[in-house]
Amino acid sequence: MIDAALPVAMFDSGVGGLTVLHECLVALPQEDYVYLGDTAMFPYGGRDPARLRERIAAITESLLRRGVKLVVIACNTATAIGEDVVRAVAAEHGVEVVPVVAPQAEIAAAITDNGRVGVLATKNTVESGAYRRALEAQGRALDVIEVAAPRLAPFIQDGSLFDEETMEMARGYCAPLREAGIDTLILGCTHYPLVAPMLQRILGRNVRLVSGGHAVAAAVQRTLERSGLAREGDEEGAYEFFCTGPVSSFGDVATRFLQMPLGDVRRVEFRVPA
Ligand code: DGL
Repeated sequence: MIDAALPVAMFDSGVGGLTVLHECLVALPQEDYVYLGDTAMFPYGGRDPARLRERIAAITESLLRRGVKLVVIACNTATAIGEDVVRAVAAEHGVEVVPVVAPQAEIAAAITDNGRVGVLATKNTVESGAYRRALEAQGRALDVIEVAAPRLAPFIQDGSLFDEETMEMARGYCAPLREAGIDTLILGCTHYPLVAPMLQRILGRNVRLVSGGHAVAAAVQRTLERSGLAREGDEEGAYEFFCTGPVSSFGDVATRFLQMPLGDVRRVEFRVPA
């Protein structure tokens, strides 16, 4: 029997998942949260998918052993490569999983007018075909234009996101999307909402950006309510942070992005390398 007082767990390769955490903190402030950034293995985007699956399984297991009531995969690459692994591990503990890819595909298919949907994501996410499949499953004929942006998340993660070089890089990644005349862009990596102003300027006002956070927070709420695990009351819950790399660099960048105090970040290690 899972206790409603337990926290919601979420993980990402780094600070990108904070864009999901932020939406959850706003939508469900009464819940407790545990966030793990696998910074020692960042970036996930170009790593061997088979090894990444093992790593993701180990992370999920460790979060579940702490005692959590839901696992949110706050990373598109982890969802694209290992959603089934996370679900299998969580099912052994009777815990449900909320991923990031499907909720965004649903929104994008619903809001596009011209049926041309862009996906900006990591190499692993694009190569997995996860978004293409999720968009095809929406039952609407869509042109899907996928662009891999291998350098973008690392720039964001190391905190150098607002410089000219990032802007130039973003222009390069957006060029094929502009050419294809998309009216909707899925930000297929949880790091990318952190450069949304840049992308919006390059693509223009008429292109709608679809990030995962809002839809995931809604899915978390639905899942908790359906299973009778939502916390009652209006008291603010707590949150705590773990990372696998150096604590200070994670803490600095994460505080900037979350714009809230992080408290003590603790370091954890996993023997399974990615
Ligand atoms: N936040 C990850 C994602 O959503 C970051 C990318 C990476 O680790 O390469 O895909």
